[in-house]
Amino acid sequence: MLKKVFALAVIILGLGMACISFAEMTGDAAAGKILFEKTCVLCHGKEGKGDGPAAAALNPRLKSYADPAVVAKSDKELFDTITKGRPGTPMVSFEKTLTKQQRWDILAYVRSLGGKK
Ligand code: HEC
Repeated sequence: MLKKVFALAVIILGLGMACISFAEMTGDAAAGKILFEKTCVLCHGKEGKGDGPAAAALNPRLKSYADPAVVAKSDKELFDTITKGRPGTPMVSFEKTLTKQQRWDILAYVRSLGGKK
C-alpha cells in the first residue's frame, strides 16, 4: 500500500516537473506580438508576409511565415535562426538583444502568423 502511494507521488511529481519545463520552452504569443511589432516588422511586415517597409531592399527576399517551407521547419530551427541570425543575410542575431523567453514568445507569435500553432 505504502509503495503504491509512493509510486503515485513520484508520478505526480514527475508530471508536475514535466509541465514546468514544458512551460519554459513555450512562448506567449501575446507578449511576442508586442516584441515582434517593435523589432521585426521593419523587414518581416506586420503579418509576417515578408513585406515590411525595408523588405524590398533585402537580399535574399523574405519568405512569408506562412510559406510551406517555413511552416515545415521545426520550432528549434526557427528559434535558432532568431537566436543566431543567418550569417551573410540581413537576418541578425537576437541572442543579446532578446532574452530566451522573449525569443520563445516571438516564435509563438511567428507561428500564429504562419498559421501553425
Ligand atoms: C533587417 C531585416 C530583418 C529584421 C529586422 C529581422 N529579420 Fe528575420 N529575416 C531576415 C531575412 C533577410 C531572412 C531570410 C534569410 C534567408 O532567406 O536565408 C530572415 C529570416 C527569418 C526567419 C527564418 C525564416 C525562413 O525563411 O526560414 C525567421 C524565423 C525570422 N527571420 C524571424 C525574425 C524575427 C523574430 C525578427 C525580430 C526579432 C526578425 N526576424 C528580424 C531579415 C530580418
